[in-house]
Amino acid sequence: MSAFVFVLPTWPVDVWTQAMKAAAPDLDVRVWPNHLGRVEDIKYAAAWLPPADVLKGFPNLKLICSLGAGVDAILGDPTLPRDIPIVRVNDPDLTTRMSEYIVLHVLMHHRQQRRLGANQKLGVWDSFPTHAASALTVGIMGMGVMGADAATKLAMLGFKVVGWSRSRKTIPGIRCFAENELDAFLSQTDILVSLLPATKETDGIINRALIQKLSRKGPFAAPIMINAGRGRQQVEEDIITCLDNGELYAATLDVFSQEPLPRSSPLWSHPKVTLTPHAAADSDPETICRYVHQQIQNFEIGQPLQNLVDRKRGY
Ligand SMILES: NC(=O)c1ccc[n+]([C@@H]2O[C@H](COP(=O)([O-])OP(=O)(O)OC[C@H]3O[C@@H](n4cnc5c(N)ncnc54)[C@H](OP(=O)(O)O)[C@@H]3O)[C@@H](O)[C@H]2O)c1
Repeated sequence: MSAFVFVLPTWPVDVWTQAMKAAAPDLDVRVWPNHLGRVEDIKYAAAWLPPADVLKGFPNLKLICSLGAGVDAILGDPTLPRDIPIVRVNDPDLTTRMSEYIVLHVLMHHRQQRRLGANQKLGVWDSFPTHAASALTVGIMGMGVMGADAATKLAMLGFKVVGWSRSRKTIPGIRCFAENELDAFLSQTDILVSLLPATKETDGIINRALIQKLSRKGPFAAPIMINAGRGRQQVEEDIITCLDNGELYAATLDVFSQEPLPRSSPLWSHPKVTLTPHAAADSDPETICRYVHQQIQNFEIGQPLQNLVDRKRGY
């Protein structure tokens, strides 16, 4: 029986262990740090935010599975064993949850739900004029699995949608820009959505200079931003400056440069910020454990692994 280990310092490991035992009766499921057994037996690891140095402690590891779509925390370990394949989750359940979040927040801004909520609290009947979805262009940075799905769903609702990624995509009804066309993409974008991975290239990409290049031709006369990618992509001081001086109309943030977001952050109480605790797309234990088990089975019979991470690209 091959041994498998969970390294999940911030998640309820008992729930995951139960789900993995149900999905993979052929595996000897162990848990870091307290139920490891002989570390030499461990062939497979599944991790989320593993502390540095932990994975290198399994000398016979053959495969690492990230339990989320992002792999920045795993790749950030300077002692990560080389040459071991890393696979990440790409699953319809996770993708659908992310699209729900993006659609929810695009609609919330478009339909000015925060203004309506504030009016209700004050007992104010203010039926201000609204506009059609087609009056707004949503620009998605990162047209991978999640970006493409959210883009398609937003287009179905009538929004104009543009997308930006390293390589140009071809998606019916969506104008897609390549890496060297960032400015053209930004100039069309009224609502910016980031679904980029955290890499050296995307660190700090959402800064004041980028925000200033966004469209001001939409119905709110200033752009809106939604970040559900990674917090490292945003310069939070710049976002606050732009919200305060009107260069940004509003922001939805699910991810932050430091998580949990410190209680002292001005983002908590900013009147133009909607904030969620890195909860845009949660990994479901049963679904993800079935997926991980399938990857392990593929590996054992020499079949190609799916959603293999390219360590050089960083995602
Ligand atoms: N907040 C949450 O709860 C949550 C949950 C899950 C995932 N996420 C985040 O969402 C991210 C996206 O997930 P995914 O499954 O859609 O990933 P993915 O399929 O790997 O897509 C990443 C996209 O970003 C593009 N990209 C990467 N670096 C770029 C750069 N320097 N310039 C332009 N485009 C770049 C890629 O371009 P190419 O297609 O040309 O390679 C690709 O289109 C994850 O990495 C994670 O950070 C957040």
